[in-house]
Amino acid sequence: MSLQSIKYTRGSLAILDQLLLPVQSKYVSVQGVEDGWKVINKMQVRGAPAIAIVGCLSLAVEIHPEEFGTKKQLRQEIEGKLNYLVSARPTAVNMKIAADELIALANELSKDDSVSVADMKQRFLNATEAMLQKDIADNRAIGANGATAILQRVSAEGGNAGPVRMLTHCNTGSLATAGYGTALGVVRQLHELGKLEHVYCTETRPYNQGARLTAYELVHDKLPATLVLDSMVAALLRAKNVAAVVVGADRVAANGDTANKIGTYQIAVVARHHAVPFYVAAPLTSIDLQIPSGDHIIIEERPDREMTHVGEHRIAAPGINCWNPAFDVTPAALITGIITERGVFKPSELKAEIRKLLDL
Ligand code: MRU
Repeated sequence: MSLQSIKYTRGSLAILDQLLLPVQSKYVSVQGVEDGWKVINKMQVRGAPAIAIVGCLSLAVEIHPEEFGTKKQLRQEIEGKLNYLVSARPTAVNMKIAADELIALANELSKDDSVSVADMKQRFLNATEAMLQKDIADNRAIGANGATAILQRVSAEGGNAGPVRMLTHCNTGSLATAGYGTALGVVRQLHELGKLEHVYCTETRPYNQGARLTAYELVHDKLPATLVLDSMVAALLRAKNVAAVVVGADRVAANGDTANKIGTYQIAVVARHHAVPFYVAAPLTSIDLQIPSGDHIIIEERPDREMTHVGEHRIAAPGINCWNPAFDVTPAALITGIITERGVFKPSELKAEIRKLLDL
């Protein structure tokens, strides 16, 4: 079965339908922006980086066969459709950052008299397609930076530098990205270094990204892994000598507060109680310096049915009210380090470090 969440060649895009995994491995064709919006909103593709890549590529396949009379027409098409794609899921910032960058590129090209309409379209397609390779390279760098930081931390605390036991939440692997993964990339890197004793993954109710998707990736890659239920994390950290927790992010605010899959916050609280370091692994495209803190992050609320049913089977009493936030915000104070492709930062230093890196 495949671990490639996105298949793209110019003019053609398909995504692995993550609603059907792990039972069925089926690709769904995405023929344009309407399809892109739907597969993201229905969570047939999910995970912050994958959402952004599929959103932008859905516009690329739509634009590819079209002829534009003027650069203004092309620019308006790019801007309108990218802004529409941002609305498919509100919490992850990656799609918004990608949209802003591509709109800025379209604006710049449309003002440049030496660029023809055809050149402008070509440059837009190139920029969009470059996201795939960049995401994989970023994930590899996140994996290397995270593994080094975790092993150093274990040594500094007097432990032998691995192999270590890790805990992760939700799915942050190949299925959530263009490949390799962010937090799961760190776990993969530890394994490649011979430094992973074991990884525990949470079920991640209600959508079960851990049980369905992360467990699938771990079995596929033959990593030493065990599934636990979300309610078992405190008992796990007490009993199993876990060296560190590593999770992904949908949006990291300037002060380091981090929105990630619901349940992340309570894992961070439990990790602090047990003095287990808690890391967030995320590319710079998940960091939103525009908002000062997590209070400004819009948390998506999803349909009750995701809680009341497993597949077609009802598991909750008919008539009960539900509250189904898809994400929560972990306060920066509970986060040991934010692992990016450009280094590992303390939440309190994040804003200054990134501004330095991006030369802002
Ligand atoms: O609702 P989802 O499945 O899109 O949520 C995914 C997560 O919360 C991930 O941890 C996050 O997007 C990072 S994926 C590399």
